[in-house]
Amino acid sequence: MDNSSSQHDPRVRADQIDDGLFRCGSLLIGMTGSVGVTLMPNYVAYLRQQCARRVTVMMTRSAQRFVTAYAMRIYSGNWVFTNTFQVDGDIKVPHIELTRAADVFLIMPADANIIGKAANGICDDLISSSILASAAPVVFVPSMNRVMWESAVVQINVKRLRKLGHYVIHPGPGHEVADLQPTFGAMPSLPNVLIQLRDILSQKADSPRHACARDPAPQTICANDDHGRLPANPSDGAART
Ligand SMILES: Cc1cc2nc3c(=O)[nH]c(=O)nc-3n(C[C@H](O)[C@H](O)[C@H](O)COP(=O)(O)O)c2cc1C
Repeated sequence: MDNSSSQHDPRVRADQIDDGLFRCGSLLIGMTGSVGVTLMPNYVAYLRQQCARRVTVMMTRSAQRFVTAYAMRIYSGNWVFTNTFQVDGDIKVPHIELTRAADVFLIMPADANIIGKAANGICDDLISSSILASAAPVVFVPSMNRVMWESAVVQINVKRLRKLGHYVIHPGPGHEVADLQPTFGAMPSLPNVLIQLRDILSQKADSPRHACARDPAPQTICANDDHGRLPANPSDGAART
């Protein structure tokens, strides 16, 4: 399995993020059981501070073997949903209510399992059910080892996801967690994800299904209080504890 954490500093430097990149009112993140999930606490803290007015996290059971729901609760500053039948705060039917409120649904990291399930309409947990229920654009950030990524079935499933109208971000190089050998298929660094996200979603700004109702401005994906401006020192946001 890949270990992109050995390659990337999870902190995001100011000079890695251009102004006017990814902005979103409500970001829903589905985290699945790739070892790349260990990067997510810092990534979510950054997204929460710089990119989205509200970040809500969903986690599979496997994802919680790597990172606790409690940690994501702290880093996201919001409820964390791990179960289709969970009731928390005002949310009673999470796969419907959370996707309805989302501007973008980011599956990050997306393991081979969720890619396969979503490509085939399987809804046997909260994240897979939410993907099917989402009217917001669904963007997959794959993370797996090279053999898995290059397997015929994963490539077929990725093609299928794109054909179904979903977006799949290109993975990058990394290291196997088991033996630290170089590999490919790792989750890209957050700056890279944000750049690809901007490019993907700006292409779809005209689509009625994917246009953000909250901000028709063409240069941004979704509305934000600061309309795309980053604070003076965005690197501060990368690793808040
Ligand atoms: C140490 C470890 C690392 C793993 N890393 C990955 C990974 O990077 N990508 C992947 O697709 N699966 C990986 N897996 C396998 C998934 O965790 C497994 O397929 C799991 O059933 C996925 O469940 P989920 O999709 O419900 O989270 C890993 C498993 C282990 C034990």
